[in-house]
Amino acid sequence: MTAFHAHFQPTREAALALDASDELAPYRDQFCLPQTQGQPVVYLCGHSLGLQPKTVREYIDEELQDWAALGVEGHFHARRPWLSYHEILTAQTARLAGAKPAEVVVMNSLTVNMHLMLVSFYRPTPERFKILIEADAFPSDRYAAESHLRWHGYDPQDALLTLQPRPGEAAVRQEDIAAFLHREGETIALVWLGGVNYYTGQVFDMAEITAIGHAQGCVVGFDLAHAAGNIILQLHDWDVDCAVWCSYKYLNAGPGAAAGCFVHERYAQRPDLPRLAGWWGHNKDTRFQMPAGFDPIPGAEGWQISNPPIFQLAALKASMDIFDRAGMMRLRAKSERLTGYLEYLLRDRALPGVSLITPDDPAQRGAQLSLQIKQHGCALHQRLAEAHIICDWREPDVIRVAPVPLYNTFLDVLTFVNALDTAHREVLVSS
Ligand SMILES: Cc1ncc(COP(=O)(O)O)c(C=O)c1O
Repeated sequence: MTAFHAHFQPTREAALALDASDELAPYRDQFCLPQTQGQPVVYLCGHSLGLQPKTVREYIDEELQDWAALGVEGHFHARRPWLSYHEILTAQTARLAGAKPAEVVVMNSLTVNMHLMLVSFYRPTPERFKILIEADAFPSDRYAAESHLRWHGYDPQDALLTLQPRPGEAAVRQEDIAAFLHREGETIALVWLGGVNYYTGQVFDMAEITAIGHAQGCVVGFDLAHAAGNIILQLHDWDVDCAVWCSYKYLNAGPGAAAGCFVHERYAQRPDLPRLAGWWGHNKDTRFQMPAGFDPIPGAEGWQISNPPIFQLAALKASMDIFDRAGMMRLRAKSERLTGYLEYLLRDRALPGVSLITPDDPAQRGAQLSLQIKQHGCALHQRLAEAHIICDWREPDVIRVAPVPLYNTFLDVLTFVNALDTAHREVLVSS
């Protein structure tokens, strides 16, 4: 146990006391908590799909009312005019990403934005054409990267490099990433990593990776699906070239929510960069003159293609307003305590065959802990579901659990570990 755990106790009273002293506890009531078979669940799956803010209905309903009342005029006269709706998300999105307003835009979905970024930022040359990803990158990132390699005439067998953890380890050591970049950097056109790895929950040192990547002449981008709304981001100061994220996980904007995109300001005035263009990325002053020549808006907005889905933006706006009130610094501070409590309880129980593959260091992880289950993991996960605990199972042997500071409690965490303990005994006895 570390000093970080010294004040924790594995009892219901202790968990309730932690909840009682949590200044963010009232936020839980702002979310719809799911039930199964009439029972409230312990929801620990915000790394997959965040819960619905109760205000979402009202925000979407306003757009439905304005559409009904105004028809096409809603583009200009809705309470939040649709023509510029995405702009009301800019300042909040910039704060969340640690970016300047012109560096961010909300549009499309994550993998679509990744493709748009790779069109512009994967610029292979005969000497430098490789893409570096994590060995256990989310499959969509791998498929997208491979498709760009093939598009440019390269065989992913030669041109896709993967960062492997050391044998017997799950997380990739920072010094190994640095050594890899120093060794292979000259051949790498693009470094593309998950800021928080979806499987292990490991947070990468994005500032250092970007600095080393740049020193080697690589472009550096990140998939922040598991980072946005989870950890503190400073994309501008870290000098990241580009990044994308979804809004349905920690950002609670609903299934298929509109995604985020960051493009560093040094590319703001680069109309020469190849890109897939559409009218929504065109200069706002002349867009409706329907000119023939594409004139991209300076900054990230210039990568937009289509007019955005207003109902999805409304859901995201409802959620971002909650983030603004709660504040990312306070959320992150609570998140470290909540996840620290989860780690403490798991280590306290020391269940045989259950180990943590997420780094111990709070700076190297977000809300999520990944539990590697040596045997019967799937059955164990099934038992948890029967006990109304929602977490998820990832092949081949991991249960991912994320207590989310906006709506989870310390008691949720204790209830989960108690249920895991019970399920563990039941599954072992019956096997
Ligand atoms: C790390 C990561 N990247 C990409 C995706 C794919 O996102 P989308 O289907 O929104 O494009 C996900 C989905 O969960 C993810 O976790």
